[in-house]
Amino acid sequence: MKDVILGLVGVGRIGVMHANNIAALNGVLNPRGINVRLRLTDVAEDHARNIAAGLGAGFVPSVAHLIDSGVDGLVIATGTGTHPELIRAGVDAGIPVFCEKPVAMNVADALPVLDYIRDNNGVVQIGHQRRFDAGYLEAKRAYQAGELGWIHSLRAVTCDMTPPPVEFLATSGGLFRDCSVHDFDILRWLTGREIVEVYAKGSNNGDPAIGEVGDVDTALAVITFDDGTVGTVSASRYNGAGHDVRLEIQGSSRSVMVGLDAKSALASAEAGVAFPEGEPHQTFAERFDQAYRSEMAAFVELILGERENPCTPEDAVAASRVADAAQESLATGAPVKVAVTVAS
Ligand SMILES: NC(=O)c1ccc[n+]([C@@H]2O[C@H](COP(=O)([O-])OP(=O)(O)OC[C@H]3O[C@@H](n4cnc5c(N)ncnc54)[C@H](O)[C@@H]3O)[C@@H](O)[C@H]2O)c1
Repeated sequence: MKDVILGLVGVGRIGVMHANNIAALNGVLNPRGINVRLRLTDVAEDHARNIAAGLGAGFVPSVAHLIDSGVDGLVIATGTGTHPELIRAGVDAGIPVFCEKPVAMNVADALPVLDYIRDNNGVVQIGHQRRFDAGYLEAKRAYQAGELGWIHSLRAVTCDMTPPPVEFLATSGGLFRDCSVHDFDILRWLTGREIVEVYAKGSNNGDPAIGEVGDVDTALAVITFDDGTVGTVSASRYNGAGHDVRLEIQGSSRSVMVGLDAKSALASAEAGVAFPEGEPHQTFAERFDQAYRSEMAAFVELILGERENPCTPEDAVAASRVADAAQESLATGAPVKVAVTVAS
């Protein structure tokens, strides 16, 4: 049996979910001869102690203690502003790092981190979990197999039911950077093409506090790919029907939609149509439960040298470039060209 010790820093909204998933990994990995253990830390010490106790995990008082304790990989689930410093700490320790998206608050802050990782031979996986979602994987397979023909339109949607706390929004970088960056990433990943121009609009019809911290509660971007294909990426914090994440890919031969299932958060306006008959997802954690679990299993495989990095920092920064352009377009009211990188 191979032992892998994961050190997790940050047990807030997403960190608690990762902690639970790591604790449950052994059910999947033990049959393959891999045993995963968890140690965690958070500046909110009492909270972290409680989470650790509940999961039978170890608690340590700081990131330095976590690294010194000899973990095999570092999982970063703290707020975005802390990512560069913590990625560097993991790279300095010579251990693989999993860091929640994004690499940094914006591309300018991320570029020195990319240099640091490359110059120090760091291994860093970024948390774009949709790359592990069964629906997106099937859509990519179908497109790459030629089953859709050529794509004429793409429509991506990411809507929360209710906004996260305004304190979080104040430091999130804006709706496109926080939310739509997942759509920008998956669109590059699925098509293998770069988004070269973004034209964004937004609105604030919900809590005025969101506008007061400089964000919008709803936005839509028209995107253009490097081959001229067009698409839209829309997001909202106020989708009362449920957590709604979908991608419609319309091809010359066939069209598919990711996220169109019994739990879709929309109803047909047509008489006699009962679909979708299930209860809609309420949160991103529910919607991507399987993807988050697979993502963490992939990080263990990356640590063990059993797989390629499924989402490199360069991939994540390429998506962030599009998000930055969308934020700029939103602020200026004009279309913005995206500095092009190579899709992977
Ligand atoms: N992949 C996704 O779907 C997804 C979803 C939500 C959030 N995120 C990303 O995850 C990150 C965290 O988001 P969140 O909503 O969980 O935030 P959060 O504020 O709920 O949690 C952050 C936690 O980190 C702790 N923390 C902050 N700085 C620390 C430090 N230096 N050392 C130790 N602990 C520290 C805080 O006390 C808090 O418990 C963000 O970067 C966000 O973009 C990703």
